[in-house]
Formats: sequence, C-alpha cells, structure tokens
Amino acid sequence: MTGIRITGWGIALPDKIVTNDDLAASLDTSDTWITERTGIRERRIGGTTSGLAIEAGQNALRCAGLTADQIDHVVLATTTPDSIVPGTAPTVQDALGIRGGAFDINAACSGFVYGLVTVAGLIAAGAGPILLIGSETLSKITDMDDRAIAIIVGDGAGAVVVEPVDGPGQLLSWNLNSDGSLRHLLYCEHGGTLYMDGKEVFRKAVRVVVESAERAMADAGLGPDDISLLVPHQANLRIIVAACQRLGIPEERTVVVIDRYGNTSSASIPLALHDAISNDRVHDGDNLLLTGFGGGMTWASAVLRWGP
Ligand code: UT7
Repeated sequence: MTGIRITGWGIALPDKIVTNDDLAASLDTSDTWITERTGIRERRIGGTTSGLAIEAGQNALRCAGLTADQIDHVVLATTTPDSIVPGTAPTVQDALGIRGGAFDINAACSGFVYGLVTVAGLIAAGAGPILLIGSETLSKITDMDDRAIAIIVGDGAGAVVVEPVDGPGQLLSWNLNSDGSLRHLLYCEHGGTLYMDGKEVFRKAVRVVVESAERAMADAGLGPDDISLLVPHQANLRIIVAACQRLGIPEERTVVVIDRYGNTSSASIPLALHDAISNDRVHDGDNLLLTGFGGGMTWASAVLRWGP
C-alpha cells in the first residue's frame, strides 16, 4: 500500500493590499459592514494565476528540499486559469522545469481537496512526488463595481509537495461531492463576471460542510475532540463559525486567514494550512480536517494525520 505525505508547503500573494476602506472609497459599503458580515479586513489583488502558482510552487519545492527533476507531475486547482486552452498547469510545469503530466482541476472552492484526493490516487497508482497548487486571480472575473461580490474576493496561491510513503500515509479519509442542479447559485459564463446568490450559498454551505466533515471524521474513526485543527475554505467567517458550532469543534482549533486574504477559492485551504504550519499550530500526530465548498455546487472534506 502506498500512501501520501505532505513534505513541503509554500504560498504566494500579490503585493497590493486592498483594505475595506479602499473598497468603500468607490463602493456603497463600509469597513464595519464588511468586517461584521464576512470577517474580511483586507485582501490581496493582482498577479496572474500562473505567476502566483509558480512562486508558491517554488517555495513548496524549497521547503520539501526537492528539485524540479524530482517531481513527477503538477496538479493545479483553479477557477481562474490564465486561458481556457491550454490549462495553466503546463505553464507552471514549464517555468519550474518539471517533466511529466500537468493538468488543471476546476472544482471551484473545493478544488484543493479534490486535488489532494486526485494526487493520492495518482500516487497509489505509482506516481512519485507531485506538486499540488491552488492558485486564483478571482479579481479578474469579478465586477469590482458590484458590492455584493467585490468585497469578498481575493487573489493568491498555496502549494504543497505530496510524496509517496509506504503504508497508509497521512490521508485517513475523504469525500468528494457535487450537486450540479445548484450551478445557478454561483457561476461565471465565458467572458462574464462572477454571479453569486450569497444568501443561498451561505445557507447550503453550512449544511454541506457539516455533513461532509462529519462523514470524513466518521470514516477516519474520529470524533470532533480528536480533530486538532479544522482547516476550512475561507468564504465567510460566519460560515466558519457556524460550521464549528455545529461540528462541536471550538473556534480556537480552527484556522482563519480570511481577515487578511478574503475568499481566494481553491487557494484558501493551502493558504490556511501554510498559516497554521508557520504559526507552529501543526505537530506530528495531529488530525487535520480540511473542508471546502463552492460553485457547482461542490463540496469535499479530508482528514489528514500529520507527520511521518
Ligand atoms: O466561496 C464559496 C462560495 N461563497 C460563499 O460561501 C459566500 C456566501 N455568502 C456570503 O458570504 C454572504 O451572503 C455575503 C457576504 C455575500 C453577503 O452577506 P449577507 O449577510 O448574506 O448580506 P445580504 O446579501 O443578505 O444583504 C443584507 C443587506 C442588504 O440590505 P437590506 O436589503 O437589508 O437593506 C444588502 O443590500 O446588506 C446589503 N449589502 C451590503 N451593504 C453594504 C449587501 N452587500 C453589501 C455591502 N456593503 N458590500
């Protein structure tokens, strides 16, 4: 049996910080409204999806102590590829000098968890180390004059190096879910901008996150007290708080980066994971519960047991 282990992590963020007050200068909104309704205080805006992914990928490789020629494949989760064809992963692969396969995954904000499970499957089938990245430039598909959506989006990227290990490895359980009949709640047509029925997405998100996270815990043979850290998609602080309450996981055991980065779709979970590791909140033997949800609707959870 071949399992997976995350051995490196890295992020990339555009330099430009846009605060709530910056947005309120041109939109009918306020720092108070945005902070209270979303938990967001500022976000990063700029860059390209490939550029951010390359930088995050380089940082993850350095952290893992691996060079490009030791990586087999690149898997990139994104809803904002640089172009429709080709995918963005081959651009990243070329820039980093990696050989092997390279492809994008679009599962909206669940993309990183979908990617992690995909990578575990590739590794179980015999692949070597894989670079998994979530990278987004949501600002490119957002009408920044529409206060309903402009206030929540951010740009950024997070990457991990995933290596094969003998035995079951870190991934204890996972589930991937989607309900395409809900696609009208959150979408972006070719050449258009993001539409979101925020209230309805909010309502459904809390329900599906709890259901999927509970299933992932049960499949891992764990309960809420066994979860050292919840690493949720960062869409709205109120969603995170509501999910924590329903799951019975205290907020102190949850990672929150939405205040600094906003909603970065498939980049949000690796950004949160990186933040937790950097702040010494992740230790060998810890059980991490990753959970994401977004357009599709898609939702997905995974439990990782950190360490060798
Ligand atoms: O990434 C995965 C998918 N995305 C999500 O999970 C996002 C889920 N949804 C949300 O986070 C929230 O629905 C939003 C943050 C997008 C909106 O918050 P809300 O509490 O659902 O606001 P609302 O749309 O119900 O609007 C409440 C009020 C309305 O005014 P009235 O009708 O009560 O007078 C809106 O017009 O707030 C008003 N409003 C705003 N006011 C100031 C809506 N947006 C804004 C704004 N600034 N940006």
